[in-house]
Amino acid sequence: MRIAPSLLAGDLSRLADEAKRCQAWGADFLHLDVMDGHFVPNLTFGAPVVAALAEHAELPLDLHLMVKEPDVLLDDYLAIRPARLAVHWEAVTHMDRVLTRIRDAGAEAGVAINPATDVECLRSILPLTDFVLFMTVNPGFAGQAFIPYVLKKMKRFREMTAAESAAVGLAVDGGIGLETIGSAVEAGADLAVAGSAIFGADDPAESITQLRRMAKGQA
Ligand code: DX5
Ligand code: ZN
Repeated sequence: MRIAPSLLAGDLSRLADEAKRCQAWGADFLHLDVMDGHFVPNLTFGAPVVAALAEHAELPLDLHLMVKEPDVLLDDYLAIRPARLAVHWEAVTHMDRVLTRIRDAGAEAGVAINPATDVECLRSILPLTDFVLFMTVNPGFAGQAFIPYVLKKMKRFREMTAAESAAVGLAVDGGIGLETIGSAVEAGADLAVAGSAIFGADDPAESITQLRRMAKGQA
């Protein structure tokens, strides 16, 4: 199981140090939550801060844009050369065009969906999608409780990808910890974002190890 710590739950006054710590803990990606204060009721950092941080981060970046009309500033984020970039279904008018631009820039193209959004909207764009980011909280803040009904959507999505013979990754974000990662894996997740469960742990490296162990059903 690939694990991407969400820096939102770390010390936001020391982003570069937190990025280095994530690497030392054995994380696979650095998950960065870009929020605009409009799509979600919170504001974090934008492209200049992410670009500055990227200079100090060796882990591949997993950008999660929680912004309205992400296409307006998309080129600024793509210029940072993230490994993965997800935009929200609910925030994009021309999803086909946006996903194509992300792929053309050499990043994996992701569609994030809110808990209340049904998965059927994803069917026609599966060929353009590298991964879907299932929100298991209402986006905006770290430290919220996992919403269990999203698991049913994830299973329906896995049935859809099987029926369409589509190789699309399934990432899960929000309220992931030792109690919830097992059910997310069972529902088809191959990557887990975790904020509080890692940064709030006494031993974050051990927490990542435990999350992976739990994901394999070994804990
Ligand atoms: C929520 C963000 C998440 C969040 C995860 O809007 O997208 O990435 O930081 O934090 P936890 O794991 O604490 O829910
Ligand atoms: Zn996120």
